[in-house]
Amino acid sequence: MSLSVRHILSVNDLTKKDCALILKTAQNMEEISERSVKKVPILRGKTILLCFFEPSTRTRTSFEIAAKRLSADAVNISSVGSSLSKGETLLDTAKNLEAMNPDILVVRHAQSGIPHLLAQAVDCPVINAGDGMHEHPTQALLDLMTILKVKKRIAGLHIAIIGDILHSRVALSNIILLKKMGAKVSLAGPASMIPLGIEQFGVPIFYDIRKVIPSADVIMMLRIQREREADSFFPSLREYSRFFGLNKETMKHAKKDVVILHPGPVNRGVEIAPEIADGEHSLILDQVTNGVAVRMALLYLLCGAKK
Ligand code: CP
Repeated sequence: MSLSVRHILSVNDLTKKDCALILKTAQNMEEISERSVKKVPILRGKTILLCFFEPSTRTRTSFEIAAKRLSADAVNISSVGSSLSKGETLLDTAKNLEAMNPDILVVRHAQSGIPHLLAQAVDCPVINAGDGMHEHPTQALLDLMTILKVKKRIAGLHIAIIGDILHSRVALSNIILLKKMGAKVSLAGPASMIPLGIEQFGVPIFYDIRKVIPSADVIMMLRIQREREADSFFPSLREYSRFFGLNKETMKHAKKDVVILHPGPVNRGVEIAPEIADGEHSLILDQVTNGVAVRMALLYLLCGAKK
């Protein structure tokens, strides 16, 4: 079995069969991370370039760990310390990296569309590790795996995505992927942070989180993206937290078996109270663990997919 795509650029490109294959492969990969020697030789001799032109903790580290657990060589490249800082264009950088014959390029960039551009310029598979305010497909896949492991299904679940939808690539990838897999997805947040036209994706919009929390099986809280000046979209963090934060008070209205996701990094006390982020309903650290398995699966499935 193989994927219908050469690159992982958008969840839009993935068929349901692709998603099932990725999740099944990720499930098989999980066991490797539980061994005392967490390494198998299946990608020995392969080279994975991790090009992170924007900060990352979870995604970059989990891709590097994923590559190393499969015995691939992982090489890190960032803007600082590369010749981009001397004025080289991104395309020239990509062409020069390609000349070293890598097997996969993993790319994160602050501008939407950069992984798509690089995928046209290089010969090896490209994985989008987050592009601007556009998409974060591997995050949506690991979220899918996290929900599935606990709820055992996606179809028919009500998933509420709450917070800064406007600046969130996680939100867009999750809306597309979860809807594709049959979930009902609702959005809630301040009006200033709901993108115009988003309802065309078939997602009801709420401006009061109390209207969406009682029927949600999964609550996905989003980070206020202060690096994209998201905190200028509401009067104060205190006010945001009061109206749109998940805390003990708002959780009183939630289902007993609700699960809470957050892609991280968490603004504790802003979009989510610390006791909720660390509480019994939270799957935030499970998401991180599942991220390694999903990225191992993607590297495995894409390696060798050269033209
Ligand atoms: N979820 C996520 O993308 O986290 P990082 O920015 O730390 O990679």
